[in-house]
Amino acid sequence: MSRVPLLLGLFMGFVFVGVAFAAAATATAKFDELFQPSWALDHFIHEGDLLKLKLDNYSGAGFVSKSKYMFGKVTVQLKLVEGDSAGTVTAFYMSSEGPNHNEFDFEFLGNTTGEPYSVQTNVYVNGVGNREQRLNLWFDPTKDFHSYSFFWNQRQVIFLVDETPIRVHTNMEHKGIPFPKDQAMGVYSSIWNADDWATQGGRVKTDWSHAPFIATYKAFEINACECPTVSSKSVEDLVKRCSSSSSDGKKYWWDEPNLGVLSLHQSHQLMWVRAKHMVYDYCSDTARFPVMPVECVHHSHTKVVGKN
Ligand SMILES: *[C@@H]1O[C@H](CO)[C@@H](O)[C@H](O)[C@H]1NC(C)=O
Ligand SMILES: *[C@@H]1O[C@H](CO)[C@@H](O)[C@H](O)[C@H]1NC(C)=O
Repeated sequence: MSRVPLLLGLFMGFVFVGVAFAAAATATAKFDELFQPSWALDHFIHEGDLLKLKLDNYSGAGFVSKSKYMFGKVTVQLKLVEGDSAGTVTAFYMSSEGPNHNEFDFEFLGNTTGEPYSVQTNVYVNGVGNREQRLNLWFDPTKDFHSYSFFWNQRQVIFLVDETPIRVHTNMEHKGIPFPKDQAMGVYSSIWNADDWATQGGRVKTDWSHAPFIATYKAFEINACECPTVSSKSVEDLVKRCSSSSSDGKKYWWDEPNLGVLSLHQSHQLMWVRAKHMVYDYCSDTARFPVMPVECVHHSHTKVVGKN
């Protein structure tokens, strides 16, 4: 007799958890709930649910999350500078602090009117970057909002554009390669003038007669483990706090076993992006790296495995 209510209870509990996950996965927040301006407050324009950051000949602008996070998913919807955006860079990134910081970057490099925006990504581990990849998107990112996300757990970091993976940084600690999973990260975005390098190798300069340059944001989502910003806690405590654990039954969605690697569909998407849209990969830049960076060996391996 008592079995039925118990099972029903379990079932209801399951449904409830499912709903809670679904709700958490789609809840978007207002800018002020998660972020604050970090510089040039007078270059912020709030228009209903939209936030616009302005770059002119006086200043760019930037914002930062109020909290720091470990693991999970962070997404913004972004519409890039319309028309002539040459010389400008709009960045969306996660970063920890200090000389040995970790960082995941999206940098959107402007272009002259009609020429494609480029998306440069980079990964810093223990203060070292030099892992640039570049692609030209399969749509015009200035015409509409598109979502740009970081998914991060202890197995991998995935960069996603409209949920399509464009880059994966895999944990290869078993081969002695450090992986960024011991530092809480803030979430940042900014727009600034970088005409010394951004567009066509720095040959095309910012045309200030076309200012202001405006990047527009909406629908901020952070579904991640929040870490106390002022904390005396050790790294081990932070990692533990944000990891699922069998001892106390704590479970985080990003630790689900199926999120430890790309799904087959995702690895096909990534292969498509790399084949059709990638214009630069540090892994194949033999002039810059006569010896292939260690983590790149894995990239080419993934490709071969993915073809099966
Ligand atoms: C910035 O641009 C405005 C409008 O074109 C111009 O009046 C002003 O002198 C410029 N300021 C600087 C610092 O270049
Ligand atoms: C800008 O357009 C040129 C010409 O189409 C292209 O080669 C380049 O990759 C584009 N992006 C940047 C950032 O220069």
